[in-house]
Amino acid sequence: MDRATLIRTAWPEKYQADRPDPHGKVKSYQANFCAEVETRFGFAGKRVLEVGGALNRDFVLNDLQVKSWTAIQELSYWESIGRGTGDLGTIDYPSFDAADPKTLGPYQVITAPIERLPEKFYESFDLVISIAAFTFVQQVGPALDKIYRGLSPGGGFAVMAAQIWSSESGLFYHTVTDKMGRLFSSYPIAGHSNPVLPWWHLLVQPTDMYDRLCRTTDCEAAGNIVQELFYSRRINRLFAEDYAKYFATSPFQRYGKMQTNIAQQDLPNAALQKKLEARHPGRRDFNTHMILAYGQRLI
Ligand SMILES: C[S@@+](CC[C@H](N)C(=O)[O-])C[C@H]1O[C@@H](n2cnc3c(N)ncnc32)[C@H](O)[C@@H]1O
Repeated sequence: MDRATLIRTAWPEKYQADRPDPHGKVKSYQANFCAEVETRFGFAGKRVLEVGGALNRDFVLNDLQVKSWTAIQELSYWESIGRGTGDLGTIDYPSFDAADPKTLGPYQVITAPIERLPEKFYESFDLVISIAAFTFVQQVGPALDKIYRGLSPGGGFAVMAAQIWSSESGLFYHTVTDKMGRLFSSYPIAGHSNPVLPWWHLLVQPTDMYDRLCRTTDCEAAGNIVQELFYSRRINRLFAEDYAKYFATSPFQRYGKMQTNIAQQDLPNAALQKKLEARHPGRRDFNTHMILAYGQRLI
């Protein structure tokens, strides 16, 4: 069996315990993406930077056989969904300040945003991967710039971003409780429901959304849902076209190689497509649920 197939199938089965990262589960979408990255770039012997996550330590060191793994995460994301440092497992460095790329161990977690990667980390990695995190990165342009600088010449970059704001599945809000004790969330959490109907986040103005939600729940909870949905800093609310532009103007496109998979496809429902285009002039793509992009630094 080739290594990519092993990653996709046999290896994740060893990591099914539901413990905090970096000892937790290897989820199927993570394993599938790692298998794809294995085929394109290979992991063995590489210094890898993971942006927005901390994959299981044993998986990356023993199975992917990397030389070193540096995982960076933004703590405010976890705090905003009610999870703190305890849920994240070990944090080796609370910021980039204390971490020295020359003395890093084989595996470490740093809580810091990629947009702030300092110069001391430039050209420190052979491969940068990011799984299901770019939707949450606030400054995608600067993040791509830093990722390019963090790579040594020849280094590869692979990103998978899901739940794009401009699609039906792009809304996020987490645990709003109303006066009757009902729990609301856009996440599929047991015991939670979602009064925000499909496409509302793209079709209904915040003020109208508030008005509609006040008829389903109390107005305080309605206000909290609107606040979370439209104004929280947890997600970036970029449209699929925005990602395409950021990738197309990134240093990967200008000085290296960039391959993006963001195909514009009209929705099967033509009337809905028309309504969305009217509400968001200049936008066409409301049917991208996942973005895959691969880059390489050449100089
Ligand atoms: C939905 S979680 C995904 C976690 C994991 N990769 C997975 O596949 O389940 C999003 C992650 O992105 C991280 N994140 C958000 N903004 C970031 C930023 N600017 N730099 C680095 N990580 C960031 C959050 O801390 C969080 O770990």
